[in-house]
Amino acid sequence: MDRLQKVMAHAGIASRRKSESMIEAGRVKVNGKVITELGFQVKKSDSIEVDSVPIQKEKLVYFLLNKPRGVVSTASDPKNRETVVDLLHEVEERIYPVGRLDYDTTGVLLLTNDGELANKLMHPKYSVEKTYLAKVKGRVTREDIRQLEKGVVFDKVKSVPAKARIINYDRKKDYSTVELIIHEGKNHQVKKMMKAINHPIEKLTRTQYGFLSVEGMQSGVFRELKQFEINKLYQLVEDE
Ligand code: URA
Repeated sequence: MDRLQKVMAHAGIASRRKSESMIEAGRVKVNGKVITELGFQVKKSDSIEVDSVPIQKEKLVYFLLNKPRGVVSTASDPKNRETVVDLLHEVEERIYPVGRLDYDTTGVLLLTNDGELANKLMHPKYSVEKTYLAKVKGRVTREDIRQLEKGVVFDKVKSVPAKARIINYDRKKDYSTVELIIHEGKNHQVKKMMKAINHPIEKLTRTQYGFLSVEGMQSGVFRELKQFEINKLYQLVEDE
């Protein structure tokens, strides 16, 4: 479900503000009925008319990007840094990332204009599994892993238990590589979890989002999702 003015703006009718004025002026119908309530919720299957002309809704598109370092995960950046949407500049639809990866984090990022699916995927209720590979300072011990698996405290809140395993330890350089599988998606979640156990992160990559991975895709490369992958994403957020 989305707000009527948002759907109108996405369909390129007018800005959200102008769309609101059009709604208040009684120019907009949903399923044949004039709607003047701002924030009226519409489903994808609803038919919307403006001045009795049906609006063309944008085709829904889904992309998987292997995000490089040094790119922000927003549609626009106040500091004018390159964004993940800039990397997909040939895509005409108004896409945005599903959740965020930090500026210096690499790996799997989903982008779409399907707001309904994106919101569900980001909602804690569905808690999509995310896998990260972290290069951290120092030697991670079994006790550290147990801590991560029990949940660690950061920002005064205990994290939901994670799955964690040590991949390797480089004795010469004194860093460890750890795989972490988490369901939460708080800001800087993995960095804060690792800092809480005194192993600050030097490098972080997301290797999987649910069942999706960017294996075999070079950094900065993106591809369209296949229909079966879109169906599977929908299955991840199905209500029982
Ligand atoms: N956790 C982080 O700390 N950073 C990311 O980019 C993703 C998860």
